[in-house]
Amino acid sequence: MLDFDTQVAIVTGAGRGIGEATAMLLAEQGASVVVTDVIDERETVGEAIEENGGTALVRELDVTDYEQAEAVVEDTLDEFGRVDVLVNNAGIFPTAGLDEMTPADWQQVIDINLTGTFNCTKAVLPVMRDQEYGRIVNVSSAAGGRVGWSGDLSHYAASKGGVVGFTRSAAIDLGPDGITMNAIVPGMIDTGAAERVSADEEIEAAVNMTPVGRQGDPEELASAITYLASEPAAFITGASLVVDGDHPGLSGRTGPAHRPLSELCNSDKT
Ligand SMILES: NC(=O)c1ccc[n+]([C@@H]2O[C@H](COP(=O)([O-])OP(=O)(O)OC[C@H]3O[C@@H](n4cnc5c(N)ncnc54)[C@H](O)[C@@H]3O)[C@@H](O)[C@H]2O)c1
Repeated sequence: MLDFDTQVAIVTGAGRGIGEATAMLLAEQGASVVVTDVIDERETVGEAIEENGGTALVRELDVTDYEQAEAVVEDTLDEFGRVDVLVNNAGIFPTAGLDEMTPADWQQVIDINLTGTFNCTKAVLPVMRDQEYGRIVNVSSAAGGRVGWSGDLSHYAASKGGVVGFTRSAAIDLGPDGITMNAIVPGMIDTGAAERVSADEEIEAAVNMTPVGRQGDPEELASAITYLASEPAAFITGASLVVDGDHPGLSGRTGPAHRPLSELCNSDKT
């Protein structure tokens, strides 16, 4: 068990999916959790945390609005007196090919996925600097550089690649004050989000290219995020932790749907 007793965590986009699973797990590990989102389901997540014996503060937060982020940090300080962890999880992934993508489509994805990460980081920064302690975990995506994923996600890939670049650079700035910043790079996670933008066959084809051969559970992401958000992860910063059920050296070239190497070797000889 990672000890988050006396710690306070803010999670963005915590009304469902990976954010919800992360908020629940951090609370289970003893953190007081500030559950933020633009959707009303944040209230249900806060209630679930309290029902499990945890402590939650629920706030509306649109991560594109810097002043709202500052207000959430103020409320957190009023309620709990500190902010130890920030999980920048809020994100959207609409699909559009370049020809139909409008400048407004592009801007919205960058605003939420990338600028939102900056806004919330900037809002917690003075507090974490004063405390000389902080853990910031940014949720990127395998679509942000590791694999091409889909041609319909170029704005999304740009935003998530930007999150990795931001993480690597900001970690250098933050390190001397006891603040770490890392990125999580998820593959396909079973939150229903992939189903909203991709056909079932596309999802099946994508997961069949990985050795694990399935989508990840939100809880599997939450446990990786929670580790990076913990005190014992003090010596990891600026890193990107890939959590995608894939093999780093064989991306897209292995998986249950593929023939074993011995078969490929035999077929090469014939
Ligand atoms: N599910 C996947 O396969 C997958 C893969 C790679 C990366 N990710 C990333 O993981 C994160 C969570 O994804 P998910 O699958 O749980 O998706 P989800 O859609 O279930 O959850 C995203 C949450 O972000 C919130 N959100 C959207 N716009 C917001 C805004 N302006 N301000 C605050 N909150 C806002 C939504 O209301 C929602 O609750 C996202 O950043 C996503 O890009 C997901």
